[in-house]
Amino acid sequence: MKPLEVLKAEHHTILQVMTVLERLAQDLERREAVPAALIDDVLQFCQVFGDQAHHAKEEALFPLLARRGLGPDDTGINALVVQHEACRAYVREMRTHAGQTTHGDVAAALALAATARDYVSLLREHIRLEDSYVFAMASDKLTAGDNQKLARQFSDIDRGIAGRVRGAHDIVEEFQRFGQPGGARAQT
Ligand SMILES: [Fe+2]
Ligand SMILES: [Fe+2]
Repeated sequence: MKPLEVLKAEHHTILQVMTVLERLAQDLERREAVPAALIDDVLQFCQVFGDQAHHAKEEALFPLLARRGLGPDDTGINALVVQHEACRAYVREMRTHAGQTTHGDVAAALALAATARDYVSLLREHIRLEDSYVFAMASDKLTAGDNQKLARQFSDIDRGIAGRVRGAHDIVEEFQRFGQPGGARAQT
């Protein structure tokens, strides 16, 4: 896969986990029990796969795009980088609330749900902008040399997170296992 295709595939993976996070937020708002381990796995995914790997790969891509004539001011890439920072801040905030939620703090659970919804909303819009706008413009701009350089950088980044995060498929399965009697979550 070319680097842009890798990033698009990762978007698909991230969106699967966003669906889980959104439903966990709904459970928290309904005062339903949510396994702390599952919340931890989702937040670890957001931090390690989302921020430390996926966003880092894009931040390796953006300077190359600038060299190929897609400068940050023309393409909205500056806004995307600001949104990456916002995502990192949301994950830190969710971790703080999650730590308090495990001690039965209802206000913290609701704060976690509210932050999770803001984060999911931002990330979905962010991914839509990248897929439909920036990556669409970038696809014929990168040279073979650019793609090789990015592929090497992506491999290094992937090595850096190896073994530190559960896969999206595992997280979705874990979420479904903790579903309502009758498997209501699994069916929606
Ligand atoms: Fe991004
Ligand atoms: Fe992205």
